Amino acid sequence: METTIAEKRITPVETDFLPLEGTDYVEFYVGNAKQAALFYKTAFGFQSIAYAGPETGVKDKASYVIRQNKLTFVLTTPLKTNNEIADHIYKHGDGVKFLALRVQDARDAWHQTTKRGGVSFMEPEVLNDENGEVVISGIKTYGETVHLFIERKNYNGAFMPGYKKWETNYNPSSTGLSYVDHCVGNVGWNQMNKWVKFYEDVMGFRNILSFDDEDISTEYSALMSKVMSNGNGYVKFPINEPAEGKKKSQVEEYLDFYNGEGVQHVALATKNIVETVTDLQNRGVEFLKVPSTYYDDLIDRVGSIDEDIEPLKELGILVDRDDEGYLLQIFTKPVEDRPTLFFEIIQRKGAKSFGKGNFKALFEAIEREQGLRGNL
Ligand code: FE2
Repeated sequence: METTIAEKRITPVETDFLPLEGTDYVEFYVGNAKQAALFYKTAFGFQSIAYAGPETGVKDKASYVIRQNKLTFVLTTPLKTNNEIADHIYKHGDGVKFLALRVQDARDAWHQTTKRGGVSFMEPEVLNDENGEVVISGIKTYGETVHLFIERKNYNGAFMPGYKKWETNYNPSSTGLSYVDHCVGNVGWNQMNKWVKFYEDVMGFRNILSFDDEDISTEYSALMSKVMSNGNGYVKFPINEPAEGKKKSQVEEYLDFYNGEGVQHVALATKNIVETVTDLQNRGVEFLKVPSTYYDDLIDRVGSIDEDIEPLKELGILVDRDDEGYLLQIFTKPVEDRPTLFFEIIQRKGAKSFGKGNFKALFEAIEREQGLRGNL
C-alpha cells in the first residue's frame, strides 16, 4: 500500500450530520490533580480558570480547569478508592479520559452518533446555574476513552455548572500554545481499520491520509496510521496500530504500559514555535532530540523556509513540507513516568499533513528512549 492523500473534499455543511466546532477541552484522569495543575501552569503556561471539588459540593473528585488561548485542559483526580476514576488510574496511570468536542446541539450529536452504532457513555444531560446552561452527552471510543459533546451556547460562566471560578496569585505567562491541532490514538493489533470505520460511520469523519509500515518503520519499530478528519477539518484524529518490526513497536510499548488503547499524543498549535519551545525548555519541558546531522541537508529536503536554521537546530525542531506548505514540529518526552502520553508542539505554515518526512528521524529518537527504558 502506498501513502495516499484523499481528495480534499470538505463535507458540505448541509450533509454533515455531526458539525463540530472544534475541541472544547481535554480531560485527564491523574493521580494528583492539584500537582498536575501546577505542572501544566508552570511548565506549559496555562492559567487557572475553574475548580470543582468538596468545597463546591462535589464529594468524590476534584477537577482543576486550566486554559491558554483556546486550549482548555481539565485535570481530575478521585478523592477515594473504589470508583471509576480510581480504577482508570490504577489500570492506565495518568492519561486522557475525555476528548470533549464543541457542538451547537449536544442532544442531536448524541442521537446522530448512537443511531449509527455509537455506544452511549452518557445520554444528553442539562446542567444549570446562574450563568446559564450547558448540555453534555457522550459516546465511547477506543479503549476507555470518551468523546463528550459539549453545547455551551447558552452559558457564560467560568467553565460549566458545578465549577466555580478559580483565581490564584500564581499566574505564569503563556508559552503561546493556542489550540488542539490533532489528537492521536494508539489502538491494538489489527484494530486500526475498525476504528477508522467507527469514525467514518458513527461520526461522519473521513480518512484524509494513510501511512503504512513502509512509511513508518525504522530498523526496529513499525506502525501504521490513518488520519481521520471531521467535515470542516477542525477535528483530526490519527489512529495508530503497531506493525511487526525487528523489535517492539513504540505503539506496543504504549499498549503495554497504558494497559490498553488510549490517547498517545495531543498536538498543540503555536504561531511561533521557536519562541514557544524556547520558553517550554526553559520551564523544564523535555523534548526528543534528533541528531544534528538532521539539519545538514534540511534546506535540500524542504526548500527555503522563513526561519533561521540555527535556532531550530539548537531546539531540535523538525520541518516537513507537503504540496500546500510546510510545518514545524517537535515532540516532548512522555509527561509521566509510564512511557505513554506525550505532547507535540506544531506550527503550520500552509501544510495540512503530519510530518511524514520526519518519521524516520523521529522514530529513531523514540527508539533510543525505548532502549534506555529496556523496552526495545
Ligand atoms: Fe502528531
